[in-house]
Amino acid sequence: MSKIIDGKSFAASLRAEVASKVAVLKERDGIVPGLAVVLVGEDPASQVYVRNKGKQTVEVGMQSFEHKLPDTTGQDELMGLIDQLNSDDSVHGILVQLPLPSQIDEKAVINRINPDKDVDGFHLTNVGRLSIGDNGIVPCTPLGCLMMIKDQLGDLSGKHAVVVGRSNIVGKPVANLLLQENCTVVITHSRTKNLVEECQRADILVAAVGRPEMITGEWVKPGATVIDVGINRIDAGDGKTRLVGDVDYASAEAVAGKITPVPGGVGPMTIACLLHNTLQQACRINNVEVPE
Ligand code: GUN
Repeated sequence: MSKIIDGKSFAASLRAEVASKVAVLKERDGIVPGLAVVLVGEDPASQVYVRNKGKQTVEVGMQSFEHKLPDTTGQDELMGLIDQLNSDDSVHGILVQLPLPSQIDEKAVINRINPDKDVDGFHLTNVGRLSIGDNGIVPCTPLGCLMMIKDQLGDLSGKHAVVVGRSNIVGKPVANLLLQENCTVVITHSRTKNLVEECQRADILVAAVGRPEMITGEWVKPGATVIDVGINRIDAGDGKTRLVGDVDYASAEAVAGKITPVPGGVGPMTIACLLHNTLQQACRINNVEVPE
């Protein structure tokens, strides 16, 4: 097996698997999963994500609904749209692209979504389900990380996992998932003492801090599995920019047993897992089995 974990090809096979299950669901139950994506404002990175989500949703045979609202949109208007999507039977998944403009209360919007249509796993009900090990829907990026780690390592029981970063979107949920797999999990953050030593103990090191190339080879235990969730655009020095992770790939790759590159590692898994989650929710809402 290669040392480099190829997220691009893993994501392509997950999408193919979702597409074949969507075809069965259509044939067997007459259900076509529908994903609604809501974008408020014109953040260029968010526009790219939303466009890619729409394209890949259609490619796996689902219906894609895009709602683009101006950045002046008020709370009531956005809540009204969520209510409308909650009661629309052709919509099985609702994703509100984050971040939202400052006049909007993000938490209130997320918690307005029917938890059975929440495909981000950000609704308090789904966060609670994950924390007690009663998995409803799991956030997409952490789910993608776990799928790749299990694919590489198989049984994770007793492994020492260190997560760098404690965000609600990645750090905390990925730690919960690793705990469910019986790892010994340490969550580290900006106030952690002896951060380098903590990381050096990791069999599985998940970097999700948003600091370009912070984690170098010196931090990595020889043979460890390194999962880099960071997506940072840095100045390449020639007037162009370059995409890098939170891990200094060149030095870490020399020490790690397995490592995800940036780009082409965790990134492509996020949308593939979103489609996976939408299929799960379409089955849950309609009370039918997810096709084998
Ligand atoms: N913005 C960046 N990542 C995400 C994500 O996973 N979900 C949503 N809704 N917004 C995001």
